Amino acid sequence: MTDLMLPPDTGTDHRYPEASTDNELLDDFDGRLRCSSVTDITHDVRSFSFTLDDRAQLRFTPGQYLTLQVPVDGVPVERCYTISSAPADADELTITVKRVPDGPVSNWLHDHLRVGDVLGASGPLGAFSSDLHPAEQLVLLSAGSGITPVMSMLREMINRGSTQQIRFIHSARTPDDIIFRAELEWLDTYPNVDVTIICEADSATENWQGPTGRLSPAVLLKAAPDLLGSEIFTCGPAPYMAAVREMVDLLGVDPGRYHEESFVLGTPGAPLAPSTTETPSADAPTTATHLVEFRRAGRTIDCDASTSILTAASAAGIPLPSSCGEGVCGSCKQDLLSGEVDMQHAGGIRPKEIRQGKVLLCSAKPTSDLIIDA
Ligand code: FES
Repeated sequence: MTDLMLPPDTGTDHRYPEASTDNELLDDFDGRLRCSSVTDITHDVRSFSFTLDDRAQLRFTPGQYLTLQVPVDGVPVERCYTISSAPADADELTITVKRVPDGPVSNWLHDHLRVGDVLGASGPLGAFSSDLHPAEQLVLLSAGSGITPVMSMLREMINRGSTQQIRFIHSARTPDDIIFRAELEWLDTYPNVDVTIICEADSATENWQGPTGRLSPAVLLKAAPDLLGSEIFTCGPAPYMAAVREMVDLLGVDPGRYHEESFVLGTPGAPLAPSTTETPSADAPTTATHLVEFRRAGRTIDCDASTSILTAASAAGIPLPSSCGEGVCGSCKQDLLSGEVDMQHAGGIRPKEIRQGKVLLCSAKPTSDLIIDA
């Protein structure tokens, strides 16, 4: 399916194709995707649709993401991208990617990926899904390219003929930067869907007629007067999410009803700053310390049983890929060659990968000496 599915001129069926009604997180694809279409969405955002090779099936819940393997300068690089389409079609899906200045993978996708090209992919991953939190009222909040997972949720609810009350509140820099604008205007005509778009500024060609500036508690309450009784899903850049978190706290939202995608998809992982090292207090009980060998880096460090391997590596100046630091994104995944860990993750690794001996370094603490293929 394509991203933009406006109703036909004369038709009355505004639904997307038949929807999945699975209410569980899925974990079953490790294969190849063939690009079936490339669609310009804004001046710097494109959607890439894929079909699955080899008669494979990829089932996902709205809000989940994939890991794509992209050959940048001949070197395979992995990045996570949210699936922006609804899970309607078991053998086709769409990601929507904003071109990031100096972002090697987003630029490669924009500049090189053509219809017919094949990429490796695995997933789906992630627990940021409306399917996990059924509710009569939903507020979907996004900024910039953070719109993709909540758009998948909105599309899926329309697929299912949902009568849930959906407040969709999106922040964009200018009118030219509104992702899926025409489709959102169409969806706003649904009786149970209410779309509010906020622009920080006018564009060169358009004076924005809707709310301007940034999202504020007043604008949020006006757009979602039933906020307190709603299940809330938020995705966007970190400062935006921090601001939304502060607003919902201030407005008295039950934290159990607030969900956010806690990392920026499609950006390269950066090593954690040494300042994030967990420093035990003077009163903390002594914990066992283990040796952790990073085989390819040729380094061995001490890591105590209460410190994540990623934190210890970062403190020792060993650069490793990472992004969320919370077991969500999967970018810190590595092969554990020997030893045992205690791993408490949040959906960033699949059961099959754990069985294969992979670990998320941000979420794993050593319970013995370790050798890691990194
Ligand atoms: S950094 Fe995201 S899962 Fe570890």
